[in-house]
Amino acid sequence: MNAAEQQAAAQPQTMQRYYRWHARIYDVTRWAFLFGRRRLLRLLPQKPALRLAEIGCGTGFNLKRLARQHADWQLTGVDVSRHMLDRAFRALKPYSQRVFLLEKSYGKGQFRLKESTDIVLFSYSLTMFNPGFEGAIEQAYDDLRPGGCIAVVDFHDTPFGWFRRWMGLNHVRMEGQLLPVLERHFEPKTCEVRRAFGGLWRYLVFVGVKPRSSVDG
Ligand SMILES: C[S@@+](CC[C@H](N)C(=O)[O-])C[C@H]1O[C@@H](n2cnc3c(N)ncnc32)[C@H](O)[C@@H]1O
Repeated sequence: MNAAEQQAAAQPQTMQRYYRWHARIYDVTRWAFLFGRRRLLRLLPQKPALRLAEIGCGTGFNLKRLARQHADWQLTGVDVSRHMLDRAFRALKPYSQRVFLLEKSYGKGQFRLKESTDIVLFSYSLTMFNPGFEGAIEQAYDDLRPGGCIAVVDFHDTPFGWFRRWMGLNHVRMEGQLLPVLERHFEPKTCEVRRAFGGLWRYLVFVGVKPRSSVDG
């Protein structure tokens, strides 16, 4: 195994270690800077009986809101951290009949969602797939039905090196790396890059459609 492969293989354990402690303070700290999550939920297709999977669902912030809003949607949350999922499980208890939680690492070829997934959601998770974000986007492409949507909200970039390094210490890569890969695979319906905290960083809100005419779809 070369160094890059070793890093890729270690990513799930890195996340499990990081969130063993951070899961406890996640909900009381992250609301202050994970901008755009509610906006992304409003941008999702509002049709009946959709199947949605959130990858890196964490403590269930998005799934809880979706379960409340869409009584007939089938929701799946995937996360590699048992400590985050424990919290999601508690938050989603009232909806346990129609929200399924899976403790798994997501990535190219690791496992498949149900083939007819209509929406794959990534909310502040893809910038933590280091390495592996391209593989996760490719897997989402494979898991979506043609015409299905990928929905992403995440950090985009920062002009400040010290801030980029600080976020790196927290396993977040913010070098504008997600957008080109998303645009390569999906037809953009919404693509916004917005300033946060007066320009300390920018974040991305992206909704894209898997082309119906894709050769492999
Ligand atoms: C910053 S949290 C975001 C949680 C939630 N989506 C939200 O918006 O609050 C990132 C989550 O991605 C998960 N994650 C990171 N790498 C993963 C992987 N390879 N497979 C599945 N989940 C992963 C982490 O365990 C963590 O719960």
